[in-house]
Amino acid sequence: MSSPPLHIPVLLSEVLENLQLKVGDTVVDATLGLGGHSLEMLQIIGSQGKLIGFDADPRNLDIATAKFQKFPNVRLIQANFREMGNFLSADSVDAILMDIGMSSLHFDDASRGFSFQREGNLDMRLNQSQPFSAKEIVNGWSENNLMKILREYGEIHTSAKVARGIITARKAKPLETTLDLAAAVEAKTLLPQVFQALRIAVNDELAALQEGLAAAVKLLKPDGRIAVISFHSLEDRIVKNFFRENTKRCICPPEKLKCDCNHSPLLKIITKKPIKPSKEEIQKNPRSRSALLRIAEKL
Ligand SMILES: C[S@@+](CC[C@H](N)C(=O)[O-])C[C@H]1O[C@@H](n2cnc3c(N)ncnc32)[C@H](O)[C@@H]1O
Repeated sequence: MSSPPLHIPVLLSEVLENLQLKVGDTVVDATLGLGGHSLEMLQIIGSQGKLIGFDADPRNLDIATAKFQKFPNVRLIQANFREMGNFLSADSVDAILMDIGMSSLHFDDASRGFSFQREGNLDMRLNQSQPFSAKEIVNGWSENNLMKILREYGEIHTSAKVARGIITARKAKPLETTLDLAAAVEAKTLLPQVFQALRIAVNDELAALQEGLAAAVKLLKPDGRIAVISFHSLEDRIVKNFFRENTKRCICPPEKLKCDCNHSPLLKIITKKPIKPSKEEIQKNPRSRSALLRIAEKL
């Protein structure tokens, strides 16, 4: 049997230090991936601790299941982290990690359709039982809707031109593969953003993140900590704003002169600015270069 693929966990020591884990803790890894962070967290919480791991991708979960079978204190669940609350009770978890985005496996396996450099099916689904893939978006969505996702999820200023190029190409022949799509985009420097936009749309990633954060905070015990690693500014903005919103003492509308909302803040922010990987880490693992880590503590 071949050995499991290698994955280097990003910002590992920074995550472990800030989650303040101790022996016996209950920990959630909301984005298990190949279990790099989880294995290290298990070393700290020991056999008295409990680790619950989620991954939306059944293939990644299968690989992780093989890796963790010797740990009786690990429970692995194939589900989107936006549904975490359906599996665990409120105020029951000491620490939660969300290392969002794709795993190396997604980019290394061309057949998943995440790489614009290698030929693969235009898929991009994290969970392939999900009804629609990148192919349906690229070949079926209106020019306006394509433009919208390219602008909002890819932050492409020339989204109208890119959307037009895709429409022209698909009229000649439906786009089947990643390389068909890459050929339809004239400005090749925009390919990473085009693929990012599609991936976000296919997996509804930004809404899932927003809901996942809300679910995670409900699960935490008071004083429990959440660590979120994101890989682009759209995700980081959602995390930053979510943390900020939940530190507010008052949520009355601005026109109210006297506060009567009786709101109490849920979180304390631990990282005023996101933690970034060191030069050494980026050198060892270039995929870590855009990582941003934010931590908050439940009050
Ligand atoms: C960056 S990898 C995590 C790597 C992991 N920390 C490790 O050290 O091996 C992100 C993982 O989260 C999964 N994922 C992404 N979005 C998800 C979501 N909304 N719900 C559950 N899993 C998700 C992906 O399938 C992928 O396996």
